[in-house]
Amino acid sequence: MRIALLGGTGDIGEGLALRWAYDTDHEVLIGSRDPEKARAKAEEYETELDSRGLDRAVKGFDNEMAADRADIVVLAVPAYHIGDVVEGVADVVDEDTILVSPAVGMSRDDDGMHYNPPGVGSITELVQRRAPEDVRVVGAFHNLAADRLANLDVEFDLDTLVVGDDEDARDLVADLGAEIEGLRVLDAGPAANAAEVESVTPLVINIAMNNDGMHDVGVRYL
Ligand SMILES: NC(=O)c1ccc[n+]([C@@H]2O[C@H](COP(=O)([O-])OP(=O)(O)OC[C@H]3O[C@@H](n4cnc5c(N)ncnc54)[C@H](OP(=O)(O)O)[C@@H]3O)[C@@H](O)[C@H]2O)c1
Repeated sequence: MRIALLGGTGDIGEGLALRWAYDTDHEVLIGSRDPEKARAKAEEYETELDSRGLDRAVKGFDNEMAADRADIVVLAVPAYHIGDVVEGVADVVDEDTILVSPAVGMSRDDDGMHYNPPGVGSITELVQRRAPEDVRVVGAFHNLAADRLANLDVEFDLDTLVVGDDEDARDLVADLGAEIEGLRVLDAGPAANAAEVESVTPLVINIAMNNDGMHDVGVRYL
C-alpha cells in the first residue's frame, strides 16, 4: 500500500509516518502545502529511522501530488481546514482511494478542551460531504497521542477506533492500524457514530492535563 499523510509535517502525521515506516513495508509519502517542507520532514523521518538501523525511503510532495500517488490518504491537518484540503485533492482521488480523517473539532477555555463538532455532526461526516461522492471516507486514530506515536522508544498497548460507512474501507484501515505494533483497532460502525468517537479526544486531553504523569494517556477498551 501507499499511504500519503497530508500535513504529514505536523504532529500526528509524524507519529503515523514513523510508525508505519518502522513497523510495516508500506510506502509512506509526506504531503504538505509546501513541497520543500515535505521533503525536509521526510528526510528528517528517514534519518530517525536510519538511526535505528532501518534504511527506509520516505518521500515528500505537495499535498495534491502525495494524494495522487496514494491508495490511503490520511488528512493529518487541523479540523477547521480539512474541508479545504479535501477539495484541494478532489481531482486526484477516486473510488480506489480511501480518505482517513483523524481530525477532531475542539475548542479550549479555562476549564479545558471541549468537543466542538461541525454542523454536519462530525469531522468524518464533513469530509464525506466535501469529498467526491465515490471516494470512501474512514475516521480513525483520533484518540492517539502524537508524541507517544512519534517516540519509537515507547512501546504501547492501546486501542483506537475506526468509523465510516463502507465496511471494507473500515476493515482495510483497521488492518493498517493494527500493523502498528501495540495498537488494537476496534470497529465503531458507520459514520453516523463518528461524533461519539471523535468526542473521546477532548476527554483524553482533559485527563492528560489534570493528572500528573499522564501526558500521553490513551484508551484501552476491556
Ligand atoms: N496531535 C495529536 O496528538 C493528535 C492526535 C489525534 C488526532 N489529531 C488530529 O489530527 C489533526 C492534525 O493534528 P496535529 O496535531 O498533527 O496538527 P498540527 O501539527 O498543528 O498540523 C498538522 C499540519 O497541518 C498543516 N496545516 C496547518 N494549517 C493548515 C491550513 N490552514 N490548511 C492546510 N493545512 C494546514 C501543516 O502542514 P503544512 O504546513 O506542511 O502544510 C501542519 O504541519 C487534527 O485535526 C487533530 O485533531 C491530533
